[in-house]
Amino acid sequence: MDAHEKGFFTEADSVEVVTGRNANAKDARLAEVMEVITRKLHEAVKEIEPTQDEWFEAIQFLTRTGHMCNDWRQEFILLSDVLGVSMLVDAINARRPTGASENTVLGPFHVADAPEYEMGTNICLDQKGEDMVVRGRILDTEGNPVAGARIDVWQANDEGFYDVQQKGLQPDFNLRGVFTTGEDGTYWFKAVKPKFYPIPDDGPVGQLLGRLGRHPFRPAHLHYIISAEGYDTLTTHIFDPDDPYINSDAVFGVKESLLADFRKESDPAKAAAMGFAGPYWDVSFDFVLARA
Ligand code: BEZ
Ligand code: FE
Repeated sequence: MDAHEKGFFTEADSVEVVTGRNANAKDARLAEVMEVITRKLHEAVKEIEPTQDEWFEAIQFLTRTGHMCNDWRQEFILLSDVLGVSMLVDAINARRPTGASENTVLGPFHVADAPEYEMGTNICLDQKGEDMVVRGRILDTEGNPVAGARIDVWQANDEGFYDVQQKGLQPDFNLRGVFTTGEDGTYWFKAVKPKFYPIPDDGPVGQLLGRLGRHPFRPAHLHYIISAEGYDTLTTHIFDPDDPYINSDAVFGVKESLLADFRKESDPAKAAAMGFAGPYWDVSFDFVLARA
C-alpha cells in the first residue's frame, strides 16, 4: 500500500480514506479545498443519515439545477444566493476599513455598456412610475470628495422588472446609466421609485424556497458599481428601509449601513424646480470608498 492509500473504506474512517487518495495532488490549493469539502460533506452525511431515496432526491435536485442553466440563467448562482453563500464569499472578499461603504451581491441584471450621462439626467426612459431624485457624495474614508469616480447604477422599474427582463416592453437601457463625479465628488440623477421583486423562482431553487416556506422577494433597491483610480471598487445597493421585505431579502443582501433615506417631497415649488409635475421621492446617500 502506498503512503497515500489508507486502506479499505469504512464508515468510521471515510474521511481519511478519501482525502488520503489526494495526497499526490499537484495543486496544493485544490487538495486543501477538497480536504475541507470532503470532511464537511461526510460530517453532514453522518449527521443526516439520508435514505437512498433522499440521497437520490438530492442528486435529482442538482441535476434539475444544472439543466436550468443557460447563457442567461444561472441556477447554481441563485442556489448560492438563497443559501447565503454568495453574501459570505462577498463579505470575505470585501473586508473594508471602518467607515467605508459595504459591498453586497452583484446580481444577474448588470449590463456592461450602459449609457454615460451628465449629472441630473433622468434614467427612466418610459416615464412610468413615481418620480425620484437620488443624490449624494462619493467620499474617501477621511471625508474628502472623490473626483472622477465612475458611478454605474441600475434598478428595477415600478413593477419590479429590469429592462432585460422585459425586452420590447421597456426601452433598452431603461433605468441604467453611468455618471462621473467632478471635483466636489457629488452626484445626482433622476429615476423612478423601484419596487420589490421576486428572484427567478420558476426553477428548482424557487421550488426549494417554496418547500422551505420562504418567499422569493428582494426588497426595493438600486444597484451600484462605483470605481475610482486608487480605490477599491464598490459593488453595492441602496435599499428602501420601508419596503415590506426589508428584513427578509431572499438573498440576504441587505446591510443596515445600506438603508437609504427615501423622503417624500410634496412642496410644489421644489417639484417644479426639479422639473417634476408633482410630489417626488428624494433619496440621499453618500458612498465612502476605501483606498486600494
Ligand atoms: C438582483 O438584485 O438583481 C439579484 C440578486 C441576486 C439574485 C437575483 C437578483
Ligand atoms: Fe436587483
